[in-house]
Amino acid sequence: MKIVIIGSKGQLGSELKKALNRHETIPIDHDIIEVSDRNSCNIIQEKKPDIVINTAAYHKTDACEDNPKEAFSINAIGAKNITDICKKIGATSVYISTDYVFDGTKNTPYTETDTPNPINTYGISKLAGEQYTRLAEKHYIIRTSSLFGINPPRGKGSNFIDTIIKKAQEEKEIKVVEDIITSPTYAKDAADMIKTILENQLPYGTYHITNSSYCSWHQFAKSIIEKTNLNTNIKATKAEKNTTGTKRPTFSALKSTSLEKHNLKMRHWKDALNDYLEEKNQKKTP
Ligand SMILES: NC(=O)c1ccc[n+]([C@@H]2O[C@H](COP(=O)([O-])OP(=O)(O)OC[C@H]3O[C@@H](n4cnc5c(N)ncnc54)[C@H](OP(=O)(O)O)[C@@H]3O)[C@@H](O)[C@H]2O)c1
Repeated sequence: MKIVIIGSKGQLGSELKKALNRHETIPIDHDIIEVSDRNSCNIIQEKKPDIVINTAAYHKTDACEDNPKEAFSINAIGAKNITDICKKIGATSVYISTDYVFDGTKNTPYTETDTPNPINTYGISKLAGEQYTRLAEKHYIIRTSSLFGINPPRGKGSNFIDTIIKKAQEEKEIKVVEDIITSPTYAKDAADMIKTILENQLPYGTYHITNSSYCSWHQFAKSIIEKTNLNTNIKATKAEKNTTGTKRPTFSALKSTSLEKHNLKMRHWKDALNDYLEEKNQKKTP
């Protein structure tokens, strides 16, 4: 298959490039495409791909609140521009979305059939991107959450694990919120599952792709410290004390009934964390 990967230098895009290496992958990066500009997206058409995976996003949650126009241009109009071209050339449009399309009030993991109700600009703009992508019959919406990958998120600079390790090397105590629950996800595992969906031509539609189970950021940080040689106290704190004014879903763990139907399952986030630390050479020797 001929697969265009938009944002191939990003945290997830770089893993997709590796996972899909037995196909003809065509990386298209920000220096040659601006997804919010319809004309610049014409380059996709010239490559005649079978599949276009769009990982580009404006995903700094606080910045989205301050710059809603930019958030919508990239996350929503960008998805429309790419999907319009996919429809024109008969390619499959793959849009990477987020747990932030949910409001976080369900208190058990969200499945693909739950109704989105985003509570911040990032989530609203990503849901709009999903809806534009659904206008193509041949589409996949991949919702993931709290990614960690060997290549750091380009929009943010460092993933949570690396941030905790760096802080732990500098400070004796770190405060981490215990009342926000998420499904940490290894970018490599997410890329492998996307490959499985594409290669097996699973039915078009929406898929939740996260490592299995969930935890608070505090539990996640404690696991990181336990698995490394670092000696820092991870103190639980409450989200309202760290507020920047932007609303965030308090419980946004995801689970997939769509994958279950095909007997597919992602491994536990703790196993994925082990592999990530091994790959980064940060794991404590027993
Ligand atoms: N990171 C998370 O925890 C997380 C959680 C849930 C969902 N997601 C979703 O997962 C996807 C991938 O996230 P990620 O962590 O891999 O992000 P990332 O590392 O920031 O990668 C995004 C890539 O897209 C490119 N890009 C950004 N804006 C663009 C634009 N306007 N036009 C063309 N290319 C553009 C970036 O290039 P430059 O860096 O050169 O600008 C970068 O290569 C996003 O759609 C995000 O919404 C992420």
